[in-house]
Amino acid sequence: MKKTFYTTLLLLAIVVIGQALSGPPKKVLVLPPDQGELNLPEVAFDYSPDIPQHINDFILGWGANNGTLNSIDDQIATLGRVLFYDNRLSDDNSLSCASCHQQAFAFSDDKVFSEGIDGILTTRNTMPLNDLGWQIGQSFFWDFRSASLNDAVLQPILATHELGKQMPDLINKLEAADEYRTLFENAFGDDEITQQRITHSLASFINSMVSFESRYDQHLAGSIELTESESLGMDLFNGNCGFCHVTPHLGVTDPFGFFPGGNNGLDSVFTDLGMGGWTGDDFLNGVFRAPSLRNTAVTAPYMHDGRFETLEDVIDFYSDEVIPNEGSVFNWIFGEDFTGYGFSDGEKIDLLAFLKTLTDQNLLDNEKWSNPWTGTVTSLDDFVLKGINVYPNPTEDHLVIELNNSERITYNINILDAQGRLVQSFETNEQQLNIARGSLPAGVYELQATTGALQKTFKIIYQ
Ligand code: HEC
Ligand code: HEC
Repeated sequence: MKKTFYTTLLLLAIVVIGQALSGPPKKVLVLPPDQGELNLPEVAFDYSPDIPQHINDFILGWGANNGTLNSIDDQIATLGRVLFYDNRLSDDNSLSCASCHQQAFAFSDDKVFSEGIDGILTTRNTMPLNDLGWQIGQSFFWDFRSASLNDAVLQPILATHELGKQMPDLINKLEAADEYRTLFENAFGDDEITQQRITHSLASFINSMVSFESRYDQHLAGSIELTESESLGMDLFNGNCGFCHVTPHLGVTDPFGFFPGGNNGLDSVFTDLGMGGWTGDDFLNGVFRAPSLRNTAVTAPYMHDGRFETLEDVIDFYSDEVIPNEGSVFNWIFGEDFTGYGFSDGEKIDLLAFLKTLTDQNLLDNEKWSNPWTGTVTSLDDFVLKGINVYPNPTEDHLVIELNNSERITYNINILDAQGRLVQSFETNEQQLNIARGSLPAGVYELQATTGALQKTFKIIYQ
């Protein structure tokens, strides 16, 4: 069921009895009580990756990372981990980074597009987050619009269709959450919460997500031999795919290193302009980043719009379905008649076998990248406001709120006025609430229902 936030309810025909607010307004507490229990190890996990020789040495130093990996602080990355999985990063406390970036899928998800806080879908496929320490320069997001990971982690927090949170609000929320005081202190020496510290922690945590333990790595390090099919697949890959999917991460590039700013023949008419969209440069229409192919076997569906369900579909595309267009690198190299490599069935099997050697199980289940919160409530779908009636009463009007609450969940309910002042607050696990009107003159109110870390908000116009 889609969540409908800001359901507007009209309460009609009530005689306004002017009543002044009694006493000074209480401070609004928007913070839900907690988000589950935090389980962290006594000694922080080690987040500094040991980068193997075969990565650093890759073709004349092409394997070099962007430097941010060299100084990952374990306490800062730990804070990043806690934030990454905290639903309070979203405006309605319903989603965290990990709702879309899930460890089991190399920190992408299995959806074509993903649902943000308002139920609206993202316009692009969620990207995996492994090995971003190798992105250099203007190279983050599908369309290369962001120049650093610090900047890239801020965008989803603010994006209205993702987490939709205002930074000052988020800082207030975290300040009111006890867990964070110690975490910020451990990480930065004092408990001040700033945007810069939040983004730095998230970026450190994400930077630590490296995958060096795949069969491909073991092969590059000389410790195992690939099977014959995997090995043939690797040769096919190097010959036909490797000039775009370069570096030992097979796709992690900067746009100028990317062969040289063209597309891979998915379309000839572009509904999503990609890099052309924000640069305004027609030449870059339809240009998207090739994300790292490490762990690609677990990041389906594929491409910026999730158009291919399986790796088999991707291979069929490069084999026979490439669409000639002026901006395609294939046009430039092979001419405008090129519609694919025409792989044989055997070659397709080999390519697939090679792509599967790129999965690093350690990334997918190492506890240091897992959810540190336990008992997190993940949905408020059951909280449905069925109706509000106002019953005039000789001494005081009553508001009657009816809920779908057959599960008897305990909700904290706050009513805020248009200035955001808390005017009523109570707790209930009933299906029907009877509230004395108290100090509610005609006006616009917000009813916030909170349970655990989740919150749902309804706007009420009270006439
Ligand atoms: C609603 C789903 C959703 C949520 C929640 C979300 N993301 Fe994303 N993320 C995406 C999508 C979709 C993209 C690709 C967007 C694009 O390229 O335009 C993306 C891209 C990214 C990238 C760029 C990766 C790259 O290779 O360039 C980073 C970094 C990132 N997200 C981090 C985060 C962090 C940190 C959070 C939490 C603060 C977060 N995301 C929350 C869906 C989500
Ligand atoms: C012309 C450069 C180029 C060549 C050659 C190329 N690719 Fe790609 N590849 C890309 C780009 C760019 C994308 C992302 C395109 C998009 O989403 O719009 C991509 C995406 C992919 C993806 C999906 C990644 C994801 O996470 O969604 C896979 C898998 C892939 N390529 C495999 C291959 C294989 C296998 C070959 C060789 C048969 C190959 N590529 C050849 C540029 C190339």
